[in-house]
Amino acid sequence: MPRSAGEQVVVLTGASSGIGRATAVELGRRGAAVVLAARSEDELRDAAEEVRAAGGRPLVVPTDVADFAQVEHLARTAVAHFGRVDTWVNNASVSVYGTVEDAPVADIERVIQTDLLGAIYGMKVAAPLLKGQGGGTIVNVSSVLGRLSVPLQAAYCAAKHGVIGFADSLRLELARDGSGVAVCTLMPSSIDTPFFAHARARLGGKMPQPLPPAYDPQAVADAIVKLCERPQRDVIVGGAGRLFVLLHAVAPGLLDWVLLAGDGGAKLQTSSEAKTGGDNLDRPVGGAQPARGGWDRLSVGDSWYTRYWAQAPLVRTAALGALGVAGLAVARLLGGRAADDTPRRDALVAIG
Ligand SMILES: NC(=O)c1ccc[n+]([C@@H]2O[C@H](COP(=O)([O-])OP(=O)(O)OC[C@H]3O[C@@H](n4cnc5c(N)ncnc54)[C@H](OP(=O)(O)O)[C@@H]3O)[C@@H](O)[C@H]2O)c1
Repeated sequence: MPRSAGEQVVVLTGASSGIGRATAVELGRRGAAVVLAARSEDELRDAAEEVRAAGGRPLVVPTDVADFAQVEHLARTAVAHFGRVDTWVNNASVSVYGTVEDAPVADIERVIQTDLLGAIYGMKVAAPLLKGQGGGTIVNVSSVLGRLSVPLQAAYCAAKHGVIGFADSLRLELARDGSGVAVCTLMPSSIDTPFFAHARARLGGKMPQPLPPAYDPQAVADAIVKLCERPQRDVIVGGAGRLFVLLHAVAPGLLDWVLLAGDGGAKLQTSSEAKTGGDNLDRPVGGAQPARGGWDRLSVGDSWYTRYWAQAPLVRTAALGALGVAGLAVARLLGGRAADDTPRRDALVAIG
């Protein structure tokens, strides 16, 4: 059984902004040792202050996850400082919005290097480390777009699908070894973070926006903290994402139709605001990086689906148990009625 989050040493990439920042602070509140990784040292120091103020023990390790040597250095530094790692969270990411036709190969490569290879490097380093310690947890922050695809984000969708494929293989290998290492896939729906302001965009000068509805980054932070303590294979954050993943599994053509109807799949990802400022594809944007992105008008806040169903095994067991009991009661009732009808049917046969 994993330690409580407060007793853990957690390595967290992409810790300076958005979901990573909210997760770092939430782990800090529990008293955890948090190893904060991203490229911008200034922003990491800022986040570390928040973690410390919340009650946590932060360590800043500037890291570009697209460079394997830097990811190895991150693991070595975490162990040298805290003596071990309990959970490793691959969360860092970048994106490019625009059609495949418009996207330069260099942009596509950078998304794959950061979002796919960055997570693979994290898994490659974390798996033997945790195995050598006798167990631990790897959490990969993929996306609902790791199960289905939308227009205008092909490289990102490819990377997020790839993370899930790699992790599914690794999970089986670690289980074959009886390693005690859990591999979890977290799939957020749209989340209200600075991700959209950070992305490189070729949308006619417009800013990308979350495909509505967007959920609060705290919902993802809480889900990650729960996975540290109680690993699960897959968790989706946001009921809307759950519905889309289900629709894709049972009727992918229907989902294509929904995304193409009125060109909604593209239009709903393009805001009316002009894209200002730079992007974080090649280097950090700089400046304060909050957890929230300011998409209040698209936000629905917390994910009740995730909190009270996907990560609530007691509720699920009770609900399924109640459903089973109700099913048995209905079956008995119908069985009883059928038995009551038998003499009448016999009588009718006799009369006939
Ligand atoms: N927001 C959403 O709607 C949404 C939905 C589904 C999944 N997700 C996933 O959630 C995770 C967090 O995204 P977010 O929304 O919190 O985005 P965000 O606010 O833009 O944060 C991205 C983080 O990644 C870091 N980063 C970028 N490139 C890096 C690199 N090469 N090496 C190390 N760190 C790097 C950034 O810091 P530096 O720039 O300083 O390096 C930053 O800390 C991502 O995996 C994303 O795909 C987000």
